[in-house]
Amino acid sequence: MRKHFAALVLISLLLFTHTTCTSGASAKKTYDWNTLEELVASMTLAEKVGQMTQAERKDVFKTEIEQYALGSILSGGGSTPEVNTPKGWVAMTNGFMKESLQTRLGIPLLYGIDAVHGNSNVLDATIFPHNVGLGAIAAGNMERGTEAAYTAGRLTAQEMLATGIRWTFAPVLGNAEDVRWGRTYECFSEDIAIVTAMGVSAVKGLQDGGVGACMKHFLGEGQTTDGLNKGDAVLDRDGIERILPPYRAAIDAGAMSLMPSFSSVNGIKMHEHKELLTDLLKDEMGFEGFIISDWDAIQQLSGGSYKEQIGQAINAGVDMVMATGKRENWLQYVQYLQELVEEGIVSMERIDDAVLRILRFKQSIGLFDTQLTKKAGAVGSKANRNAAREMAADSLTLLRNENDVISKLPSYKRILVTGQGAHNIGMQCGGWTITWQGSHGPITKGTTILEGIQAATKGKANVTYASGGKAEGTFDAIIAVIGEDPYAETDGDRSDNINIRDVDMKMLQHAYSYGCPVIVIMVSGRPMTIGDEYEKWDAFIAAWLPGTEGGGIADVLFGKRDFIGRTPYTWRKTINGDVLYPFGFGL
Ligand code: GLC
Repeated sequence: MRKHFAALVLISLLLFTHTTCTSGASAKKTYDWNTLEELVASMTLAEKVGQMTQAERKDVFKTEIEQYALGSILSGGGSTPEVNTPKGWVAMTNGFMKESLQTRLGIPLLYGIDAVHGNSNVLDATIFPHNVGLGAIAAGNMERGTEAAYTAGRLTAQEMLATGIRWTFAPVLGNAEDVRWGRTYECFSEDIAIVTAMGVSAVKGLQDGGVGACMKHFLGEGQTTDGLNKGDAVLDRDGIERILPPYRAAIDAGAMSLMPSFSSVNGIKMHEHKELLTDLLKDEMGFEGFIISDWDAIQQLSGGSYKEQIGQAINAGVDMVMATGKRENWLQYVQYLQELVEEGIVSMERIDDAVLRILRFKQSIGLFDTQLTKKAGAVGSKANRNAAREMAADSLTLLRNENDVISKLPSYKRILVTGQGAHNIGMQCGGWTITWQGSHGPITKGTTILEGIQAATKGKANVTYASGGKAEGTFDAIIAVIGEDPYAETDGDRSDNINIRDVDMKMLQHAYSYGCPVIVIMVSGRPMTIGDEYEKWDAFIAAWLPGTEGGGIADVLFGKRDFIGRTPYTWRKTINGDVLYPFGFGL
């Protein structure tokens, strides 16, 4: 008898450990599609609302992820751990994840970031050309362009996973139709066919690389009157149909999250546009993923109070709210959304639908299978930088080349390199780099345009650098780099002409004074309005925003690689003025 009893005890012990092991430590937990519904059904309202909440990493105190069962945390642009290394990021993201695994149901936390041209908050990560540059490749050679978008996505995913981050708010699927808009460079082109092909490739590259993509910003962000960021787009049904292909194709390619635009369509803010978010996107287009709001976008809706605005957004089809701006915003969001459900203003089936979509996304990126990052990886490898360098080279767009001066460059012995953009990693990278707005100077590891030229001409020519254009001596040619200060979003909006900056005009006057050929390279997020100034230039090259690997410019200037790029935007002499270079132009 005693033997049997002992055996019984042993078996029940084994059984007990087995069940707690699978049900307790969610690391082993695996859900298949139908059990997600069961999981939702087992959740309390508070847990469901928690899943629908995204807070900024700085606004969440210790244990609050567990206390509120938060579904997601993000890093806003430039929001980094104290130690901005992959190790520092992994320590932070693992820390947040562990907290989520302590909750009753252990639903793993989703961490999101704007890895929009590389994992661009992380110091010394590879920074690829912004989308405008990739779009220039596609405008010249669609196959090369889509390969570049795919590779940039896949390598960005690699450098995200190195830091424990599984979801990026990319790619932008808008097509800028007014270059005064500050987000023109985040779009691949004005041309819908290019945006569609490149958007699909970016989604595939990111997701094949193991992270979740996020289509943004739905819909009509590039069609606002006068290119105003967060402005209003007047679109009839055809106008809407015309800009849907990138989204239809990206959904077919497996994109499972989407961010609405701050802007409005026909006077209705996108974040409360039920007809477009639910009737069109979810019902007609069959989008099964989830909708994440933009940064504190709810507070811009038509409702008279934050609580009313929350009801508008959730009932319009927003599934998770990026409740940021200040800490109270997410705490109040949690409270108000529960009240809205208890008051019957937001239905429980709307809540269940939102939570199911969020869990479906988490499952699609493997979060239920692996949660923690075992070991920090590397960012900025030589291989990744070489890939980015090829893209920077291929994006170069030759717009003017009098007397074929470019082909004579390798024969010149004395070259003067000038311009604030010639030795300036920050200017090469533009916005969304290390900080939200980006900034001038040696902000992260990379190769400047000057350094690329010096390496390419080593032992063959004497290269002098003078940022302001004043240098002693005589030269065979001047390479003058002009362009834009780094910016992001509204900070990049222009109400009128995007003229050559004063600092560059001053430098150009000096460059002209040497009487030798002047080759102008423009580092900018969009076509700038240069009037007739280009007539003084022997050659004119658009480099767009090439990223950290500025050496790619020299690879083309000194004959290692051909010019592939064509302008992905119509280039006018002045805003709404005469066309200087039509869309797709390049020598
Ligand atoms: C920003 C941008 C959006 C970004 C989000 C999180 O305001 O509009 O593109 O993904 O906030 O940083």
